[in-house]
Amino acid sequence: MDYLQIKRVKSLRGNIKISGAKNASLPLIAMTIVAKNSVHIKNLPHVADISTLLKLLSNLGATCEFCEDRVIVDTSTLAQTKATYDIVKTMRASILVLGPILARFGHCEVSLPGGCAIGQRPVDLHLKALEQMGAKINIEAGYIHAVAPNGLKGCEIVFDKITVTGTANIVMAAALASGETTIVNAAREPEVVQLCEILNASGVNIEGIGTAILKISGTNGELVEIKEFSVIPDRIEAGTYLCAGAITRSELTLTHVNAKHLGSVLAKLEEMGSKFTITQDTITIHPSKVIKPIKIVTQEYPAFPTDMQAQFLALATQAKGTSIIEEKLFENRFMHVSELQRMGADISLNGNVATINGGTKLSGTDVMATDLRASSALVLAGLVADGITNVHRIYHLDRGYDALEKKLEAVGANVKRLKE
Ligand code: UD1
Repeated sequence: MDYLQIKRVKSLRGNIKISGAKNASLPLIAMTIVAKNSVHIKNLPHVADISTLLKLLSNLGATCEFCEDRVIVDTSTLAQTKATYDIVKTMRASILVLGPILARFGHCEVSLPGGCAIGQRPVDLHLKALEQMGAKINIEAGYIHAVAPNGLKGCEIVFDKITVTGTANIVMAAALASGETTIVNAAREPEVVQLCEILNASGVNIEGIGTAILKISGTNGELVEIKEFSVIPDRIEAGTYLCAGAITRSELTLTHVNAKHLGSVLAKLEEMGSKFTITQDTITIHPSKVIKPIKIVTQEYPAFPTDMQAQFLALATQAKGTSIIEEKLFENRFMHVSELQRMGADISLNGNVATINGGTKLSGTDVMATDLRASSALVLAGLVADGITNVHRIYHLDRGYDALEKKLEAVGANVKRLKE
């Protein structure tokens, strides 16, 4: 198993190229199931989750030609409709194939994803919405069995909670359904917006893109022609490197990034003292010597993302004063706290609220990554900790960060990937 060894350096300097967004790529790859042509996707990140989804599609019979940051997916040969446990257990987002497969073939089986480290993460809202569209769904022996022998029918779906993959799943199902589907309380994340924009450009009329109410006019089972496209930049990867600049008090320039997707993250970093120079596709952080404390509540886009909570928590350990971070989306997303405490951070947890007394000196030690974003929080802490920090179980990190240690090394960090 690999681990990262990090030694403190005085500061970082240079440019970091941001990769394509993992959370945009996943639904966009699943979307190829509703295409009648081979779909050419550019700017995919090299991360394990993408390989996992391509493997799932290949197992189902699709052809995936992956070369550098491009893939050509041909689902015309897709013959199986069962997403098995061995793949779904490694990546919950496998549930994204349910909507498009059911819409195209009239039946689909997907292993139930189960819980994960950051909380329960049920898929009840996906299933309820598909039932409203006419699917019959049974849960048997750990599998979701969904059938829609007469096809899916458009209807009004009101999501009780905003769900990102739930919205994407229903948008893809609605694309091939008959009639109009209205999704009320839809997710507005840029990743959902890109999915809608590409389907819209492919002949599926979608109104309200980027708003909480989406109206999708289905093609009544006719597959769509999807033109070549490029995945949007990863706003969470970008946010993580901005935190690296802030915590090490280093000027860094991110390239291939879209600042418009990072509004709440930039606003919080500004409150903490950083300044920015922004162009159409770059962001330069000019950090302050003194990091100010912060109050953060995680919420759905455009509010502050839960996927940036762990990184800001690491940053808050170096602020001058007390910060408060409230996690509203996932009940168990504070597992990085105990590892940061082992490095000397002064953090107390009360339910879903973390209080961070900043300004403590961190010392390097062996720490364990517990989930994807928790891993990057430990790397950030390692960049400023005295001595050596070894971050173990980085298979979590590899799920979502493209060449993190190479990108950090290129701006002067002392980060090495080693074998246990
Ligand atoms: C997506 C992102 C993940 C991010 C999360 C929240 C991908 C691949 N993953 O995850 O990185 O942290 O959005 O921004 O895009 N819920 C239910 N029932 C459901 C579905 C969700 O109760 O059927 C709850 C969840 O437990 C959670 C909340 O709704 O409390 C939001 O979850 P959701 O937006 O669905 O997260 P994901 O799409 O899994």
